[in-house]
Amino acid sequence: MSSKKTETAPDQRSGQQPDQRWYGRRHGRKLRPARQRLIDDHLPLIRVPIPEDGGATDMSALFPESPTAVWMEIGFGTGEHLAALAARYPDVGFIGCEPFVNGVASMLAKIEDGGLKNVRIFDDDVRLLMPHLPDACLQRLYVLFSDPWPKLRHHRRRISVPENLAQFARLMADDGTFLFATDQHEFAAWSLYNMLKQPEFEWTARSRPDWLVPPVDWQPTRYQLKARKKGIEPVFLNLRRRLR
Ligand SMILES: C[S@@+](CC[C@H](N)C(=O)[O-])C[C@H]1O[C@@H](n2cnc3c(N)ncnc32)[C@H](O)[C@@H]1O
Repeated sequence: MSSKKTETAPDQRSGQQPDQRWYGRRHGRKLRPARQRLIDDHLPLIRVPIPEDGGATDMSALFPESPTAVWMEIGFGTGEHLAALAARYPDVGFIGCEPFVNGVASMLAKIEDGGLKNVRIFDDDVRLLMPHLPDACLQRLYVLFSDPWPKLRHHRRRISVPENLAQFARLMADDGTFLFATDQHEFAAWSLYNMLKQPEFEWTARSRPDWLVPPVDWQPTRYQLKARKKGIEPVFLNLRRRLR
């Protein structure tokens, strides 16, 4: 993958440039043969390709069964949430983005076990894919327990930098839902500050329970459960994409 840095607007709070390099893990423990087979044989069948001509992704080729909506989850980890939603909403097309190969293999196992036909995987940094996705193609976007990068000098690595939020706003359909969950409250506040500066987003919360209670179709994620063991309850930021 590319690791080149681009000239972009500074992060308005820290004054830093967003960082386009990838800092996360790509590989964990060696995959068991069955998981490696899923990566070798099944992933190519459902991978979201980057168009070779550098143009836009053809959504109708990606989902030939014409789903009623397309939802995307960025950083699905081992895929608990993505797999549960894909099973619950078989008429929706799902794009899951995750560069961590062990996580992708776990998700592929869930796809196989659940016979899920409505999931496509982008096994790389979502920032490489987003420029190719067409405007207003997503009815829902999930970013769940994303890496908080707590040190000030690393804030520009956060997924909720203004540059990414501007892409999310472009990709989201009118009235679409962007759900951002985290157990790191400073990260939540930092992200919300950036989201509220993005004119296309409206925070739907009216009172405290609105950001403490998960959505009705919520499936707890691995990182949420880790936080719960430490007694930390997450924040759920629900943003609506305003009409164009
Ligand atoms: C802290 S983990 C949380 C995983 C999962 N959402 C959960 O709640 O258990 C964050 C995940 O986001 C992925 N991630 C971070 N930045 C990403 C990006 N730019 N594109 C795609 N995935 C990303 C990481 O690889 C990692 O697996």
